[in-house]
Amino acid sequence: MDFQQSDRMKKLPPYLFIEMDRKKKAAIEKGVDIISLAIGDPDLATPDFIVEALYKGAKDKANHQYPLGPGLPKFREAVAKWYQHRFGVTLDPKDEVVALIGSKEGIGHLPIGVLNPGDVCLMPSPGYPVYHAGTLFAGAESYFMPLTEKNGFLPDLDAISADVLKRAKLIWTNSPNNPTSVLMDKAFYTKVVAFAQKNNLIVANDAAYTELYYDGKKPVSFLEVPGAKEIGVEFHSLSKTFNMTGWRVGFAVGNKSIIKALADVKGNLDSGVFNPIQYAGIAALEAPDSVSENIRKIYQERRDLFAAGLKKLGWQFQIPQAAFYFWIKVPNGMSSADWCGKVLEEAGIVVTPGNGFGAEGEGYFRMTITVDKARLEEALQRLAKLK
Ligand code: MLT
Repeated sequence: MDFQQSDRMKKLPPYLFIEMDRKKKAAIEKGVDIISLAIGDPDLATPDFIVEALYKGAKDKANHQYPLGPGLPKFREAVAKWYQHRFGVTLDPKDEVVALIGSKEGIGHLPIGVLNPGDVCLMPSPGYPVYHAGTLFAGAESYFMPLTEKNGFLPDLDAISADVLKRAKLIWTNSPNNPTSVLMDKAFYTKVVAFAQKNNLIVANDAAYTELYYDGKKPVSFLEVPGAKEIGVEFHSLSKTFNMTGWRVGFAVGNKSIIKALADVKGNLDSGVFNPIQYAGIAALEAPDSVSENIRKIYQERRDLFAAGLKKLGWQFQIPQAAFYFWIKVPNGMSSADWCGKVLEEAGIVVTPGNGFGAEGEGYFRMTITVDKARLEEALQRLAKLK
């Protein structure tokens, strides 16, 4: 028997990165030497000392039972210490931190905890697809804030109508941004806090990429702004900072009542992060800064090489300030989907169509630098041959 999916599922396109992975695998099966610049999944290994911490934790039978609850106290303490050290933000590990099975999981679940059917959730377009999926699953409505070149790819808060704002309850911001790699500074976050206070909004800032920055210019945390903790939370991930995408571990921090709403949803749906993974997370968070510096150095070299190569092609893009994404205008006026199809067919390179991140992404495509320099050079040579 073939059962129908729910109406909510029918409103969603196939999940972008699963679709990209399918295309990649199909091309590999045909024998194409594929270079995948589609998903932001680091090719670098998780540092050994983190793997060792997992191994040690896994050997202890005390860790084999349900983890339950908002995360090990030691994990939440390590998160709070890391926030203090990195951003100068003070968090109470007891009720201002919750461990997540990757930040994607928390981003997807937060709307269920705070939105009612009919509520509006404001989110960037282009934007990480999970903001919209989580909103739909909560029975709420998405309102897309266009990120355009004209606005420096920042949301124009003043352009949102009073009617929308009356029904809005949650706003997603994201910096360093996926897919544009643009940063929000303290002045912009200050504006977001004032806007949220005025309109009774919860702010959820997705900050998964703060540790992948370039030229020594450290991104700030939303929670550094006075008043931010009164109205908001921030989502973080160990995935990108420590090459741990497969491990599924992240955290949300900030306003107690919002953290509790998220933890309560999770309490009903999952049983927590496997304790040995939390111990590995503690090892990562307590590591000397040199660990993330060494990872950054690798991406800095790749970014410089790729930016120089793309400039030679004459393509239009902003040099990423952080994260590992290049957000590029489709060079020849084709649609995003047609262009990405051409790049796959003629160059054997998988890239992500901009419209997969929302309607405002049409006319753009995204490439990641999660392959080594030799492969990036090879990609540039193939791209140069495209007609
Ligand atoms: C991306 O490619 O946008 C990310 O890897 C997706 C994710 O972090 O879930």
